[in-house]
Amino acid sequence: KEKAGLKDFLHITDFDKDTIVKILDRAKEVKALIKSGEKTYLPFKGKTMAMIFAKPSMRTRVSFETGFFLLGGHALYLGPNDIQMGKREETRDVARVLSRYNDIIMARLFAHQDLLDLAKYATVPIINGLTDYNHPCQIMADALTIIEHIGQLEGTKVVYVGDGNNIVHSWLLLAAVIPFHFVCACPKGFEPDEKTVEKARQAGISKIEITSDPKEAVKGADVVYSDVWASMGQKEEAAHRRQVFQGFQVDEELMKLAGPNAYFMHCLPAERGVEVTDGVIEAPNSIVFPQAENRMHAQNAIMLHSLGL
Ligand code: CP
Ligand code: NVA
Repeated sequence: KEKAGLKDFLHITDFDKDTIVKILDRAKEVKALIKSGEKTYLPFKGKTMAMIFAKPSMRTRVSFETGFFLLGGHALYLGPNDIQMGKREETRDVARVLSRYNDIIMARLFAHQDLLDLAKYATVPIINGLTDYNHPCQIMADALTIIEHIGQLEGTKVVYVGDGNNIVHSWLLLAAVIPFHFVCACPKGFEPDEKTVEKARQAGISKIEITSDPKEAVKGADVVYSDVWASMGQKEEAAHRRQVFQGFQVDEELMKLAGPNAYFMHCLPAERGVEVTDGVIEAPNSIVFPQAENRMHAQNAIMLHSLGL
């Protein structure tokens, strides 16, 4: 970025462990401040954020917009029909125009390359609000939630059950920075990106396992994590995937195998009765709502870091 101190937030591995830990600590601090009712901490005062959404959203839109407002700034929602990046106008033009109006840009897109292009041409920080490849803000919120409930992420066993998708890629990239035990149990043919698995393994700090046996995988888990079987952009494959993913539903039986201390997490939105049962989401050890809340707190800290504040 032209101006010193401005940083994109595109992948967890763009940062070292100290920085990730610093952002998570900051998230805790600012969360406490907001929760205390403090209204005078306004680091984003006078700043604006453009939020580009090529896909639907509840959490990402509401948590970014609310968080930015609570800390003094103003966020603009640009939905799928508004700027139509890449269709009505080239990404590099969108990047340069928005950079002249706004202090920071958050984008939720299909192709990851579009996000990289946006980052290349923008002169303000770009925050990744999910692409087909990854979802780093979600995984920062998840890490914060695990730290709050277990005390630390380091050394815990996180078992993801389902599709080897964007959420898994962000887990793998986090495992390249912070040491923990990450297991992805997915049907054959639905494994995460091979290069990303390699990257996580090569960092050499976390234990990484990819398996097609969820029952074996969840044994001793601190966290069992689930996500939809058909992500945004794959909804026409949903019926086929429901067949292929039989046996990968997180149900009461699977949680029993994980043990009484295992928490259940899900980035949401969830399809109850598909990838997870209603009973598991509603159980006392399900922490999906604190997890959703932490999106806002993690992102506030990410934006503070990106803006050098
Ligand atoms: N978890 C998440 O990103 O939710 P939304 O799709 O509702 O933003
Ligand atoms: N894998 C899901 C995550 C939604 C937050 C998707 O991309 O649709």
